[in-house]
Amino acid sequence: MKILLTGGAGYIGSHTAIALREAGFEPVVLDNFANSHPVVMERLAHITGQPFQLEQGDVLDTPWLEGVLRRHRPIGVVHFAGDKAVGESVALPLKYFHNNIGGAVSLLRAMETVAADDPAVAPTLVFSSSATVYGDPATVPITEDFPRSHTNPYGHSKLVIEDMLTALCAARPVWRVGTLRYFNPVGAHPSGLIGEDPAGIPNNLMPYVAQVAVGQREHLNVYGNDYATPDGTGVRDYIHVQDLAAGHVAALKALLGRGESFTVNLGTGRGHSVLDVVRAFEQASGRPVPYRIAPRRAGDVAQCWADPALAMRLLGWQARHTLDEMCADAWRWQSGNPNGYRS
Ligand SMILES: NC(=O)c1ccc[n+]([C@@H]2O[C@H](COP(=O)([O-])OP(=O)(O)OC[C@H]3O[C@@H](n4cnc5c(N)ncnc54)[C@H](O)[C@@H]3O)[C@@H](O)[C@H]2O)c1
Repeated sequence: MKILLTGGAGYIGSHTAIALREAGFEPVVLDNFANSHPVVMERLAHITGQPFQLEQGDVLDTPWLEGVLRRHRPIGVVHFAGDKAVGESVALPLKYFHNNIGGAVSLLRAMETVAADDPAVAPTLVFSSSATVYGDPATVPITEDFPRSHTNPYGHSKLVIEDMLTALCAARPVWRVGTLRYFNPVGAHPSGLIGEDPAGIPNNLMPYVAQVAVGQREHLNVYGNDYATPDGTGVRDYIHVQDLAAGHVAALKALLGRGESFTVNLGTGRGHSVLDVVRAFEQASGRPVPYRIAPRRAGDVAQCWADPALAMRLLGWQARHTLDEMCADAWRWQSGNPNGYRS
């Protein structure tokens, strides 16, 4: 029942590791800690009362990965490892093509080689994709058959990996691949012991709002209040990371059960504006979140939310947590760990 989680010490991987253990799987965390902290492993053990197995290393190292796969013989792999900052990807495109696309190629090749030794075991993979592959959608809600495009090297890397997986499944039908397109993951484990720990200035709204509420940043910049949305600010589909973690468990169960590959959205099907998030966070934290209206940012879309019906149909999964719960859990993590894992 072993599942290998590449990038398993990261934000989404760590929450998924707990959900998998709770569902009776045996997660093995693989990470090079490029964007996470080894203390995560202690927190995971504390939350579940049992240590987690760790393989520290780089997914780009294919021979090492083959050794890891041979040692553990996982029945499935979840591939979280990669770089994810949109702005950084524009400045450093090669870093993104190398680590994200190169990392995926390395993992797939290692899985393919090891599977050849053991034809009874079908290579089974869940891949962390993103709603960013929809580019600027013409309408909402977004279904999985919407046209895909990219507006930055990060999104481009996700698109290329999706295409690679499609080609691989066509060539080698023995592969079972679940591609999960996440909308906007936020929140933290209810224990407040693990959560999102961005390096430097947060890219995403919720960690930024949390840092303003805790007093680390003076105010939030709201980029644009003249969009065609109810209050003029951008609308996104925020999804609790605990719901996302449950989505990975459901995806693995579907792949290991029915055995058919799929691509699904993981979102709530509801949109919330920037100002909705600010108000909900003020409520959850009891702190003011001062903000200033700034000009629109190039590349931002007005509104984006998922049609999650296919995930319900194929995986029996749906998001359950409200925006208030997302903010309450994000606040518990932020106020208990004002400097993240370095607190
Ligand atoms: N968080 C989001 O908003 C979001 C949205 C959509 C998709 N995703 C995707 O989900 C995945 C996980 O995201 P996250 O938010 O948990 O990010 P994260 O940065 O917290 O986690 C990624 C983990 O991968 C590790 N890693 C990176 N490169 C590695 C390598 N070469 N070898 C081994 N480990 C490596 C990092 O140390 C980190 O622990 C990423 O692929 C990301 O693109 C994230």
